[in-house]
Amino acid sequence: MSSTLVFQGAVIFSADSENLEMLENATLIVTDGCISAFYKSPDQIPADAIPQDGQIKRLLPGEFLIPGFVDTHNHAPQWPMRGLGQGLHILDWLSEITFPIEARFADSAYASRIYEQTVDDFLRQGITTASYYGSRHADATKILAKMCHKKGQRAFVGKCNMDRNAPDYIREATASLSLQETEECIQYIRSLPDCASPNNALVKPVVTPRFAISCTPELLQGLGNVVNRDDTLAIQTHFNEAAQEIDATKELFPQFGGSEADLYESYGLLNRRSILAHCTIMTDYEKDRVHGLQCGVAHCPIANMTVGGGFMVAPVRDFLRRGIKVGLGTDSGGGWASGMLSVIRQAMIASNAREAMSEGKDKALSLEEVFYLATLGGCKVLCLEDKIGSFEVGKEFDAVWVRTTTRLESAMTPREEGDSLRRIFEKYIMTGDDRNVANVYVRGRRVAGTDEQ
Ligand code: GUN
Ligand code: FE
Repeated sequence: MSSTLVFQGAVIFSADSENLEMLENATLIVTDGCISAFYKSPDQIPADAIPQDGQIKRLLPGEFLIPGFVDTHNHAPQWPMRGLGQGLHILDWLSEITFPIEARFADSAYASRIYEQTVDDFLRQGITTASYYGSRHADATKILAKMCHKKGQRAFVGKCNMDRNAPDYIREATASLSLQETEECIQYIRSLPDCASPNNALVKPVVTPRFAISCTPELLQGLGNVVNRDDTLAIQTHFNEAAQEIDATKELFPQFGGSEADLYESYGLLNRRSILAHCTIMTDYEKDRVHGLQCGVAHCPIANMTVGGGFMVAPVRDFLRRGIKVGLGTDSGGGWASGMLSVIRQAMIASNAREAMSEGKDKALSLEEVFYLATLGGCKVLCLEDKIGSFEVGKEFDAVWVRTTTRLESAMTPREEGDSLRRIFEKYIMTGDDRNVANVYVRGRRVAGTDEQ
């Protein structure tokens, strides 16, 4: 039996990277998780368009729907260590803080307990899609994928590959074992209910070499072969993140003359499904290659300006100018936040810094642009723009129902009589929090929210 939801009220989404579509009184009909009709105003609704058996969901004044947030870079096993190790440089932060915490995920009971809280936390804040790095443990990675599936979060889940330059307690013993467990995780994820189709699966596998420093050439080549055999697979890695990392990479792979693009490309790991986290220190050559190879950038401004390498500001304006795909990432736990609103705000701050650093050449990002990065822009990075990221007939319904009239005390700047929808939206983006998230939907299924059900 089909199920139909009919949403009536204010709707906001990105028309493109610079413009928002803001509708005061739209009607969205969602049939079996997909948007089957979309009327921008009541006068457009034909007679009999609203199905008799449809469940009507009326938004009140001060409430609106936005597309669910897309987190293009997230380390699930680092959720319990967010905010730790501020000021450490990347390789020190990994060995002092990160590896000991990720090592705990050898224990499946611990993984189950923490991943339940992790996925709940991101969903509660309206992250309907996340691209997750797991730890290097196959069992824990399967637990993470199953948790996303059970809770209804759209996700990419990858077992982290790392067979060198890490302590014994976390390093994988051999490249072949790492590859074998990677294949095992890919198969497991595809065996989850309705996840066999690379196109339609809610939870998908992603090939996840941590970064070149922690992978032997044999492992990188093996992962490249996996991708080469299956061009539906996404890939994610850290890319030109910080000076310490770039120097160490150059030393380990002198043959690439300092180009991480050439390095990863030579192993077959760069294509339109590659999600490159950070990209803070980018030569024109690196930008050209990333653009030419159609890779996407996961911009993680919180992590970039707190841990890892000091104060790094990615050239996002230049990426957009060049047509490079860009989305936002919490980088939880290099980033301290688990919600996208914090990342959106930090992306604005970072872009202001970039404008100042470039003496006005790289103009700061607008509210419209940062919202785009957190929704439709991220979908492009994950090659999901045909499925989600905005409200259009034929797309799946992943959405956040924002309530600014909340009975819960949110931190949001109060709404005032006469506020336009644009102003209410701006107040929410800049000062709202998870208490404004009334309902979260993925494929039409309610997966989280403060609304009493
Ligand atoms: N580079 C390699 N591993 C990591 C990680 O876990 N977080 C960040 N921010 N950078 C990395
Ligand atoms: Fe990261």
